Amino acid sequence: MVFQHDVLIVGAGLAGLRAATEVAGKADVALISKVYPTRSHSGAAQGGIAAALENEEPDSWEWHMYDTVKGGDYLTDQDAAEILAKDAIRAVYELEHMGVPFNRTSEGKIAQRFFGGHTRNFGEAPVKRICYAADRSGRVIMDTLYFDAVKKGIKIYPEFHVLDLVFRDGQVAGLVAYELATGEVHFFHSRAVLLATGGYGKVYKVTSNAFASTGDGPALVYRRGLPLQDMEFVQFHPTGIWGLGVLITEAARGEGGILRNGEGERFMERYAPTIKDLAPRDMVSRAIYTEIGEGRGINGQDYVHLDLTHLGEKRLAERLSDISSFVKIYLGLDPAKDPIPVHPTCHYMMGGIPVNTDGNVTDENNRVVPGLYAAGECSCISLHGANRLGCNSLLDLVVFGRRAGLHILENLDRLPWIDPPEAPERDAVERMRRIRENTKGEKAVNIRRELQQAMMDGCSVFRDEKGLKKVVQTLGELEQRARSLSIDNSGNRFNTDLIDALELLNMLSLAEAIAASALNRTESRGAHSRQDYPERDDEHWLKHTLVRKTDQGVSIGGKPVTITRFKPKPRTY
Ligand code: FUM
Repeated sequence: MVFQHDVLIVGAGLAGLRAATEVAGKADVALISKVYPTRSHSGAAQGGIAAALENEEPDSWEWHMYDTVKGGDYLTDQDAAEILAKDAIRAVYELEHMGVPFNRTSEGKIAQRFFGGHTRNFGEAPVKRICYAADRSGRVIMDTLYFDAVKKGIKIYPEFHVLDLVFRDGQVAGLVAYELATGEVHFFHSRAVLLATGGYGKVYKVTSNAFASTGDGPALVYRRGLPLQDMEFVQFHPTGIWGLGVLITEAARGEGGILRNGEGERFMERYAPTIKDLAPRDMVSRAIYTEIGEGRGINGQDYVHLDLTHLGEKRLAERLSDISSFVKIYLGLDPAKDPIPVHPTCHYMMGGIPVNTDGNVTDENNRVVPGLYAAGECSCISLHGANRLGCNSLLDLVVFGRRAGLHILENLDRLPWIDPPEAPERDAVERMRRIRENTKGEKAVNIRRELQQAMMDGCSVFRDEKGLKKVVQTLGELEQRARSLSIDNSGNRFNTDLIDALELLNMLSLAEAIAASALNRTESRGAHSRQDYPERDDEHWLKHTLVRKTDQGVSIGGKPVTITRFKPKPRTY
């Protein structure tokens, strides 16, 4: 079938929902989501949303901006960080007025808590900047926005998997999507497409990300020969449940939780004497691996303890109830009595589809791709630089999701309907046919496991040339093997076997872009820690990476970082 909407938004997490609710009622907008919308991964966000409201203590948007830039190890584009920190205050009150049930102070104001890297007075001490709803902040914000989308009558295509972007003469004409319920392939004709497909933590074996986080949006863009930006910057959250990677929110440390090594020592005092356990994630993850590597894991094993036992049952029940129940369910431990075994887990991608602050997809020279937009974790503004601060993500989604929606509306008159090329779905259908008709090839599950293990071994918290070269070689071999992917299920209805295979192809593309970018950047900055190049090198590397897939292989270029208020300085906490 052919569907037609002025604006198509792919992904129904917070960025997609916020953009759609901005456009609704003013232009014909539809949301396409490969999962049922309320299962989008934004719902898994626990800790909260950052904004300098000053409800609990003095704060300012300048301090928030500074922390964002410093947290990002000065790779942050400062024009974007300024917009984020300033607009945060409006954005949080807007959510409150929409009905988000934030926790409250005794005076009835939105309550605020501490979080990693958020400080007062340019790094002096931690500041209470995070607005929260216990430890299910993403869930309640997403439900509120989803109800708003339903109220506004936005057309939603649930469980539709996008297979391809359709262009004519460099301008977006729509997209091709696969309907899971029927197996049909449809062309969606539109004037603007906004990609809001989320992250791709599933390229790693240990991750806090949902199964659906396979990076379909960036992979579509990369396959079309457009660049991706800063792909080497992959965030590992320090506290995933040992062995599982399930997130234990940083709010646990914001509420007073302490990390301890096998000797019972509060080791973050050595790594970040001023803000200790509330240092940014890249530093805490490195510290944990260093402790483990030097034999100070718990009982010499590959984890440390997150100790919440001194917080008391009441506080845990009031503010950290979800993670308390995860720990009980998955580990059979009671965080009020037992320390929690944790280690770093792949959590967030700083890199993605390059966009400007209005959500337009851009190239190395900041030229806009007409009609194509991106927002949220699949995009790279670059707001988070080399390392995102906790609780700047939900904020990014609502601030820049809205901005993209506004820009689309303001420019719709300049985005004509483009006639699609003949049979726009042909490439995607052919790709699926090859997989379906191949009965003797490789199974996606085997290649996926090897991919995730290779990325974990050679391209996670610490990296070096030898390990990265091995990853690049393994990925090349896996890509060859993936040319003969086969599946067991040849049916049409809810063929998740086929979806697994298509997602694997997306993940292989993105892993290639991550590993090539990581090998190329011969310095350490934020979450990209090269053991063979341990220093930050502003002279050569204070620039963004742009990686493209070409017929000759992967090509890498760069573009300058936007620096406005804060000149790069050594990063200590
Ligand atoms: O730790 C957390 O609650 C995660 C928050 C975030 O990634 O922003």
